[in-house]
Formats: sequence, C-alpha cells, structure tokens
Amino acid sequence: MIAPSILNINNLNLKDDIATAAENGITRFHIDIMDGHFVPNLSFGPQLVSDFKAEFPDLEAEVHLMSNNPDVLVPEFAKTKADLILLHYEAMTEDKLNHWIDFLHSNGIKAGIVLNPDTPVSILEKFQAKIDQVLMMTVYPGFGGQKFISGSCERIKEANELLAGRVPIEVDGGINDKTAQLAKEAGANIFVAGSYLFCQKSIQVQIEKLEKAVEE
Ligand code: DX5
Ligand code: ZN
Repeated sequence: MIAPSILNINNLNLKDDIATAAENGITRFHIDIMDGHFVPNLSFGPQLVSDFKAEFPDLEAEVHLMSNNPDVLVPEFAKTKADLILLHYEAMTEDKLNHWIDFLHSNGIKAGIVLNPDTPVSILEKFQAKIDQVLMMTVYPGFGGQKFISGSCERIKEANELLAGRVPIEVDGGINDKTAQLAKEAGANIFVAGSYLFCQKSIQVQIEKLEKAVEE
C-alpha cells in the first residue's frame, strides 16, 4: 500500500492534490505533524486532520506525530477522527508510550510506533503485541525531499524477522520507485512518499510508477 505524505504539497493546493491522488486509487494519506522542537520544522495542526476527515470521510488519515509533547498533543489529535496515530519511541518514556497507546485504543484509534534511523529495532519486541503498525524512518525526520539512508534495509529485515508478519511495517523518507522496491524486498508493506508523488509533473504518473514498483 502507498500512503502519500501531504507535507510537500503546496498548502494552497492540498484539496486538489489529495483528490487527484484519491482518484488514482489512494485510500490512505500520511499527515506529518512537526512541533518545531522534537524536529526543527513546523507543519500542520489538528485542524488540518479534522478538515481532511470532514472533506474526505472515506479516506484514511494516519498521523505521524513528531513531537515530544504528547501530553498536550495526543488528546488534541485524538479528537480529529484520525484513523491511526504514530508515536515516536524517542519522544517519550516507555511508560508514557504505553499509556498513550492504551489511550488511543480506548478512543477507537489505531496506534503505532515510529523508530528513528538509529533507534534499536529490538525495542519492538516489548510493544509488538499492542501496536497496529510500525513506522521505520528511512531518513532523520523533519523535512521532505531527503535521501533514503542506505542501511535502512538491514533494519527493515530485522524488524520483519522480529515481527514475523504480525504487525505491518511502513517506511518513510526518500521513497521512490527504486528505494520502495528495496524496502519491499526487505519486508516493508506500506510506503510513504511525499516529494516523489507531489513535486513532479504528474501525480497520476508518479503513483502509477510507485504502484508498479511495489505491486505483489
Ligand atoms: C519526514 C516525514 C516524511 C516526509 C516524506 O520527516 O516524516 O513523511 O515528508 O517526504 P519524502 O518522500 O519527500 O522523503
Ligand atoms: Zn512522515
């Protein structure tokens, strides 16, 4: 599955570009939330996620929460009708992570864990039974348009062996037709792509190329 990141869409074109991607078969969108603290950049707030779900109720919204202020932001994003919220392992204590995963589940929202490129994959062992998805960062978070980190495939393989198909593995950062294929071979199931889809001439052509690279 491809989950386009809307981060690099011209903000004034969000609705049109999301609709174009949906017309070309996309059913889930990846919404990057950056707090200017956990990562050195700002992006969207909860209003954007609410607006997305109001405009496109049949599309799934997954929120990639890049913030170390979960006590304030997780309850705010839980009000938005997001389908899935992904929390960074590095952004809080394990107790907090457990707490917020349980909180999301009790609000009917799926929950996942995000791992930065240098966070040990082995930490997934203690969370695998309670999460709906894992997001493996293949760049350091903060900006779109970065280059896929080459050692990422080893980490994806390690996660794939550890999880043994129990939890879907998503990859995020520098995904194009080439890197998506490598990530797929290593065991990834869901592919986030931003600039590859939205910063070229045709969204339709880019989706087709990426679909072809990751199709079964
Ligand atoms: C990076 C974000 C990614 C990013 C993807 O912090 O989490 O979702 O915007 O953009 P590309 O595909 O351009 O790397
Ligand atoms: Zn992301």
